[in-house]
Amino acid sequence: MINLSSRLKAIYDQVGAARKELGPGRVIDVGSDHGLLAVSCLENGIAETVICTEINEGPAEHSKDALKEAGFEDRSQVLVTDGLDGVKLQKGDVIVIAGMGGLNIIDILSRCIGNETPELLREVRFVIQPQKSVNLVRKFLAGQGFVFDDESVCTDRDFFYNIMRMSYGAQPYELGAYKECYGMLLIEKAVAGDELVRSYFDHLDEVFSIRSRSDRVVRDALEERQRYDYF
Ligand SMILES: C[S@@+](CC[C@H](N)C(=O)[O-])C[C@H]1O[C@@H](n2cnc3c(N)ncnc32)[C@H](O)[C@@H]1O
Repeated sequence: MINLSSRLKAIYDQVGAARKELGPGRVIDVGSDHGLLAVSCLENGIAETVICTEINEGPAEHSKDALKEAGFEDRSQVLVTDGLDGVKLQKGDVIVIAGMGGLNIIDILSRCIGNETPELLREVRFVIQPQKSVNLVRKFLAGQGFVFDDESVCTDRDFFYNIMRMSYGAQPYELGAYKECYGMLLIEKAVAGDELVRSYFDHLDEVFSIRSRSDRVVRDALEERQRYDYF
């Protein structure tokens, strides 16, 4: 049984929640690297089958080896490709895009949206964990009409990570600076007294107070946060 890091466990939990909502089906791990998430999903019955995609040959081989060693060669496929290129999505798929930069995630999602019908996109779920540019990812998702089903925070080796579980299919909407930078659902969790989210916000306050000197969106977010000071 694979021991996942706190970050991968938090991603795995969101995948599990999405699979629970949709019922049995596939998990597609974009940028699977070591393949640990895919193996865990199969080991624990979260996924019937998995598809791993990797832009680099080396990590694709790691994923293949991990899946083979765990005995899941026949229930898995590893593709060397950019994002979801060449993957035909199916109703009920859960797609994970984790551990990469926000701009890369936006690029992968943009091509996916361009290649699939809105009807199909409504029938799949996305679990997204950006390493950076989180505010730009939230803005993009809202602008494309994605709904935030959940957003969670975890800590791993002294870093905070946030994980978004998304559905497609609303009208495009604007979040505004505060919700882009802090996260609409995380703000609700902080208001409800979630201690981890509150300490994440304390951390963001510090980072943003420096960044606000050169970033207008961050400055607006901080101003709005001070107006709605609920703590
Ligand atoms: C830092 S690792 C994260 C691995 C894993 N998803 C996780 O969260 O632990 C990022 C992986 O994504 C792969 N990658 C980066 N851009 C990609 C893209 N456009 N399509 C597929 N894989 C990509 C990299 O080769 C690398 O193996």
